[in-house]
Amino acid sequence: MALLLLAASSLLILAALYTIYQRLRFNLPPGPRPLPIVGNLYDITPLKFRCFADLAKVYGPIFCLRLDSRLNVVVTTSELAKEVLKENDQQLADRHRNKATDIFSRGGSDLIWADYGPHYVKVRKVCNLELFTPKRLEGLRPIREDEVTAMVESIFKDCTASDKQGKSLLLRPYLGSVAFNNITRLSFGKRFVNAAGGIDEQGQEFKGIVSNGIKIGAKVFMGEYVPWLRWMFAGENDVLNQHEARRARLTKQIMAEHTLARNKTGGAKDHFVDALLTLQKQYDLSDDTVITLLWDMITAGMDTTSISAEWAMAELVKNPRVQRKAQEELDRVIGSDRIMTEADFSKLPYLQCVAKEALRLHPPTPMMLPHKASANTKLGGYDIPKGSIVHVNVWAIARDPALWKDPLEFWPERFLEQDVDMKGHDFRLLPFGAGRRICPGAQLAINLVTSMLGHLLHHFTWTPPEGVKPEEVDMTENPGMVTYMKTPVQAVATPRLAAELYKRVPLDI
Ligand code: HEM
Repeated sequence: MALLLLAASSLLILAALYTIYQRLRFNLPPGPRPLPIVGNLYDITPLKFRCFADLAKVYGPIFCLRLDSRLNVVVTTSELAKEVLKENDQQLADRHRNKATDIFSRGGSDLIWADYGPHYVKVRKVCNLELFTPKRLEGLRPIREDEVTAMVESIFKDCTASDKQGKSLLLRPYLGSVAFNNITRLSFGKRFVNAAGGIDEQGQEFKGIVSNGIKIGAKVFMGEYVPWLRWMFAGENDVLNQHEARRARLTKQIMAEHTLARNKTGGAKDHFVDALLTLQKQYDLSDDTVITLLWDMITAGMDTTSISAEWAMAELVKNPRVQRKAQEELDRVIGSDRIMTEADFSKLPYLQCVAKEALRLHPPTPMMLPHKASANTKLGGYDIPKGSIVHVNVWAIARDPALWKDPLEFWPERFLEQDVDMKGHDFRLLPFGAGRRICPGAQLAINLVTSMLGHLLHHFTWTPPEGVKPEEVDMTENPGMVTYMKTPVQAVATPRLAAELYKRVPLDI
């Protein structure tokens, strides 16, 4: 016991000395004073992006915190975001993997958790040249349109049922189904849910894995927070390894089914499993990379899209003027004899502005994904030592009163007055990040979210539940890596078109 105490106190002293050394050697950004062991954990509140925006008011647009025994740097202005994502892009393009992400990504064999290096460059090339090309985006369009029309059909059924007329619906399950089916079909070439809403055995397993992943995500792994006691918590790895093995088992089964189907028909389909398996040799991709990359798409592309659509719908219920204006545009361009398709987007500028304004005020990943410094770097005149974790508060930048007129207003017209790019070229609006690690799924996500909103507005009028005023819609955020609404939005849907236009347009792809 005495030995253990001695070892622990020596490590504590070493850690304190290292912090002092870093302070003396480097000109670090300002920040609250860290405590031994816990660092600045006590300075953090659950809604990190709001907490970091408040800390920026005290310590300035660049500040640092010690979390998980690491130096974390947070930037909060568009100029500093540009320094991170453009001027120092290469030195700040690594990722910090914790125990869970290290195991799930098989040591960074994927894209999301890979450090910047030859492996990353290769996998990113596969994404840019093969998976997220305009041609494949178009090839996968029928899946999106199938799923969005299935959502419309299901809402229509529910809101016109005799016992439900005039009652409010929770929007999240409908939006979640679109995102779920879209991403499983796009990644795994599978719609696990049948037309009657039943889910097959593989689908059950898939859902089980996803919900277990959420449970694991919410767990506190002690070994993470107190690295020098990591050996005491080795058992924590078992939970993570079992989850990863379960994911790999299901994925290999699905990969084998697709290989069999390709051998039979001689043709590959547009979804990512077929694409990756046919390109595996050409790009020298390991099985680990194929499996973890497919799961990257699920992790990054499912909740983010449904969350964005939910926030946008909440804003539209809260702002009937904007809703009416978007509907007027839809009626003018589409009319009432047919339904909208993605081909109509270019004639629906206001609808596009609505989607963009929702992503400005409610980016689903408000702090992007953290980057890590692979070398000593300078930001805003301060030293950023190698190994520091760098966060860009894109949520705060998109609400900065120095950049935006009435920043807290949901006012899509701002983008008609001034076209602001949201795909990494304008550092005021960065829901998808920028630079070499920018979200590769940005266009796909924009298309799906815009399509969901367009259909929801063309087919239905949305009003708050009885007794609730538009301005009373609860816009509180839920803490987490991705920002869900704390209170899922509820609204009354009233159909606007003829009944025959509410049919799903199913497609086998
Ligand atoms: C509204 C929806 C979405 C938002 C707001 C979003 C946002 C982001 C952000 C902020 C990043 C981190 C960028 C950085 O580290 O600098 C990211 C990375 C990523 N996203 Fe998305 N995303 C969305 C949808 C999607 C979809 C639909 C997919 C794929 C089907 C996807 C795949 C990825 C992947 C693979 C990465 C990792 C890129 C890398 O590390 O190089 N995302 N996304």
